[in-house]
Amino acid sequence: MTDLIKALITRLKNEHTLTLCEYKTLINGYSQDAAHYAASLAMEEKKRIYGNEVYIRGLIEISNICKNDCNYCGIRKSNLNCSRYRLSPSEILACCDHGYSLGFRTFVLQGGEDGYFSDSVLVPLLEKIKSRYPDCAVTLSLGERSRESYERLYHAGADRYLLRHETADREHYSSLHPSSLSYERRMECLRDLMDIGYQVGCGFMVGSPGQTSDHLAADLKFIEEFSPHMCGIGPFIPHCDTPYRDHMAGSVELTCYLLSLIRLIKPSILLPSTTALGTLRENGREMGILSGANVVMPNLSPEDAKAKYTLYNNKLTSGAESAEALDMLRKKMSAIGAEIVCARGDAK
Ligand code: 5AD
Repeated sequence: MTDLIKALITRLKNEHTLTLCEYKTLINGYSQDAAHYAASLAMEEKKRIYGNEVYIRGLIEISNICKNDCNYCGIRKSNLNCSRYRLSPSEILACCDHGYSLGFRTFVLQGGEDGYFSDSVLVPLLEKIKSRYPDCAVTLSLGERSRESYERLYHAGADRYLLRHETADREHYSSLHPSSLSYERRMECLRDLMDIGYQVGCGFMVGSPGQTSDHLAADLKFIEEFSPHMCGIGPFIPHCDTPYRDHMAGSVELTCYLLSLIRLIKPSILLPSTTALGTLRENGREMGILSGANVVMPNLSPEDAKAKYTLYNNKLTSGAESAEALDMLRKKMSAIGAEIVCARGDAK
């Protein structure tokens, strides 16, 4: 690690801001040493705010039906090999019941952009979940919707919304997505969500096709300026039924370095150690936590849904479907000095 890189990482910890050009220097200056140094500062910051606590979120994959055709995603509309499913509201409630009994106090309803989940389906469902479990937070991750829809869902009880920005570069955004999706609209959705009062999560893939250090620098600058409550990042992993089938996967090491940098930019951010990280590397989720992440999202979806919600190949399906599985996760985390807690886990 050069003196310059060390100085930039130190300054990021103290000032939480760098220029676009400095972010690029940090990214191009990746080395094991630099990553180690960034992780040590990120861990200090995380400890200062969250102690050794790791929050868990019960992920419920409600539908893999999607009207979009994103080039990277295994559940894209034109993938005819994808066996489609959607959970009914009562199946979703059953997942929540099960999750609650295991100790989950946040449920994440995630799915493709499936027209079935209109406001008239989601509003009564949210009201039921919130009245059954007033001590729980509900996070939605259902893609782009109108501002009015976001408002209705918020008033029905949704607390948080995850909508990855995918890339903060307009041209790169266009290359990853069909022409029906736009960078401007994605950003507008994120601003609407923030405006309405949601705790908002953005995020991006590391190593997505065509990604450069300029793009990653723009992602970090965007996070600095947008100031999200949460940020989901994970390595890109190819899916065999997408145009990116032959592209190589993103780097676990670079992902961990970026997790540390994001912790330094926004010390109190909620930062998941993602399934994609755990998929590429046996102890990937632990590596994420040790780089500064403080959230894990075990999967509460029914077994057949889990198998079909294949955003990318070899997706890790081990979740917390049982008390035993959750206990195993607890042990793995405790082995690295992290404690899984049963709490809503709002940002501090
Ligand atoms: N590899 C890694 N992450 C992916 N996602 C979608 N497809 C892939 C892939 N092939 C991520 C996107 C999306 C989130 C739900 O999953 O960033 O926002």
